[in-house]
Amino acid sequence: MFYELAAPSWGEEEIAAAKRVIDSTFTTMGAEVKAFEAEFAAYFGAKHGIMVNSGSSANLIATAALFYKKERPLQRGDEVIVPALSWATTYHPLQQYGLRLKFTDIDLQTLNMAPSLLEKALTPKTRAIVAVSILGNPAAMDVIRAFADKHGLYLIEDNCESMDAELNGKKCGTFGDLNTFSFFFSHHISTMEGGIVLTDDDELADLCRSMRAHGWTRDLPPDSSIYSRKSNDHYEAYRFILPGYNVRPLEIEAAIGREQLKKLPGFTAIRRKNLQLFQQLLGGDERFIIQKENGKSSAFSFTVILNPARNPDRNKVFKALGEADIGFRIITGGNFLRHDVLKHYDYEVVNGGAPNADIAHDYGFFVGNHPFDIEPQLRRLHDVLDHVCR
Ligand SMILES: Cc1ncc(COP(=O)(O)O)c(C=O)c1O
Repeated sequence: MFYELAAPSWGEEEIAAAKRVIDSTFTTMGAEVKAFEAEFAAYFGAKHGIMVNSGSSANLIATAALFYKKERPLQRGDEVIVPALSWATTYHPLQQYGLRLKFTDIDLQTLNMAPSLLEKALTPKTRAIVAVSILGNPAAMDVIRAFADKHGLYLIEDNCESMDAELNGKKCGTFGDLNTFSFFFSHHISTMEGGIVLTDDDELADLCRSMRAHGWTRDLPPDSSIYSRKSNDHYEAYRFILPGYNVRPLEIEAAIGREQLKKLPGFTAIRRKNLQLFQQLLGGDERFIIQKENGKSSAFSFTVILNPARNPDRNKVFKALGEADIGFRIITGGNFLRHDVLKHYDYEVVNGGAPNADIAHDYGFFVGNHPFDIEPQLRRLHDVLDHVCR
């Protein structure tokens, strides 16, 4: 395809790392995972990294950990504020743990949670916020963090789409009590599948470590605050303290991740250079709404919303993009309120609807960005849109 939605980012180093693991014959979670967790956490200035097998699993164990904290644990029926536009597994763990979701509309310019709606979403039952930076563009994490602190709420930052983005010099994925990342194929760095939770909280880190692997104690440090080792090693190797999962990553994923992480700053620089050209080509054109950068985007991909005020013919645009061999798709998961799965949720919509998320759902799409120069692709995209939207 001339302009792909996703492209490989591995070089010889990743292949060699994968081979090293296979040759070692030690393939399940071990030293490579430990090293990658430490290196990834250090890059973000976080105290703990807990690697798992996907970003979705990172969201799952992050949510679960808050239910088993000694102080102020989340409980079924508590309310959590979420944006209306995100990926399905931003929400599913919240539903699975019996939380009531309070959906808030997005800001149409940034595509992130509109912070002005937080106050409206707040009730005496609100206990947490899950904030998401969409497609590389930092959400108002500073405002959201301050709001969470003011009201004593936990903050989970689902940063699966915005690795290496920054707001006021602080990396996205460091604002939350728990912060999640994805290493899926199309993301900023790829370990095939994979994800991680970052946290500075020792107790939450240990809860995540136990939740990741069967709810057992084996991966906990000797001084863990969630469990004191007993004396009989025979039972200690198989002692279960939490209703956990098995969402462990593989050594091969971590070994590849270590190589990818070294390349991340370079990848981000190129992605941002492509972003500049995209903004130059499509910014300021009233036919299109492109994402307004808040802070420093890590430019996951490029969104285009056909300005609904001009009555655009979406199908004609999609046909033209297809004919030009340009890949495109809905923005993240679109307006999540439009999905059938909502019938299984306990939820409420602040202000009774999410009109901006609807516009993104009905008139929006995104095209890929890659860690290499895509000037010809972006110029073709511009030519096609310019022609078909005349
Ligand atoms: C906002 C968000 N959260 C979570 C995920 C889940 O990540 P994964 O695909 O690694 O499970 C994604 C996936 O793209 C995402 O966009």
